[in-house]
Amino acid sequence: MFGSPDFTAVLVLVGLFVAVLLALLSYHTPRRDYVNTGLGILILATSLALILGAFGTPSVATALVLLIVFVTIIALLLTYQSPAWAHAVWWIGVALFFLALPMLAVGRGDLAVFSLIAGPGLLMLVATMFPEVPARYSRIGVTDAPPEVTAEEIAIERRRYTRLAGGVTLAAIAGVWLFGGVPRAPVSEAQAIGPVTFDERLAQQGAQLFQEYGCVACHSVTGQAGVGPSIRGAAHRTRRLTDGTVQPPTDEYLRESIAQPNAKVVNGFASGVMLSAVSPRLPEITQPSNMDALINYIKSLAP
Ligand code: HEC
Repeated sequence: MFGSPDFTAVLVLVGLFVAVLLALLSYHTPRRDYVNTGLGILILATSLALILGAFGTPSVATALVLLIVFVTIIALLLTYQSPAWAHAVWWIGVALFFLALPMLAVGRGDLAVFSLIAGPGLLMLVATMFPEVPARYSRIGVTDAPPEVTAEEIAIERRRYTRLAGGVTLAAIAGVWLFGGVPRAPVSEAQAIGPVTFDERLAQQGAQLFQEYGCVACHSVTGQAGVGPSIRGAAHRTRRLTDGTVQPPTDEYLRESIAQPNAKVVNGFASGVMLSAVSPRLPEITQPSNMDALINYIKSLAP
């Protein structure tokens, strides 16, 4: 998010600035409202930035989140008609919060952070506007409560959810900033790459070269990782690189990882090992006919 300062990063920074400003104001005029409004603006700005950023990689997950946002807006508008709708908004907030886990599992860290921030943000909104909603839920199981929700209960709910939403948002922003980006789920399994075609004759030549150049010493053909990743299925899977990006098995990538082994390094493996081992024979290995043979051989090894 902050890697290349763009519109979304600016949005979050403006939100942070406003929140800090309002917090400072409340220092002189002790009014909690200022802090809460500031936090609310920060949560809104961050959520907006994440949603806008999510359009960069649209998927079913993006559509689902947009649908939830849409339903939330409708439900919020309906609270003007009947405050009972605040209960619906409340449960959407709870659901959004827990949506973070499946989002992370499908590799949408940006949407996971959005759910983590927007979920408690919604709970904070409901607790501020309709504090009797969370107060009612807090009373579940309490038998001796007075019939009307007390002012003290309301104050407790407001504080509780403001702290929760503010804390989660600040922690998420700090985490994203510290780790240089939104979290991503590990990617190493075979994915739908599409049919991989290869030339049988070239593949056989490649198999010989793979032995001759000593590639087998580090790359198994069984699927078991050794010093290097197994070469079986290498043309059929995506892999995570050390810079965090997900690399599909394009021809360019496979060629580059043989000709310039240090250009892109597979996450979890040592950089430099392959280069020092193959460099004496690299001029020979990178002859176009040899490269073609090796690439066709790698492609022939389906997982
Ligand atoms: C001394 C051990 C060693 C030898 C010998 C070696 N490699 Fe590697 N290779 C590695 C390591 C470690 C990696 C992972 C780190 C990286 O990406 O640079 C790797 C990565 C690769 C990758 C990318 C794999 C992936 O899943 O993305 C390919 C393709 C590859 N090697 C091909 C070859 C070929 C072809 C040869 C023989 C000419 C060879 N290697 C020889 C250690 C070796």
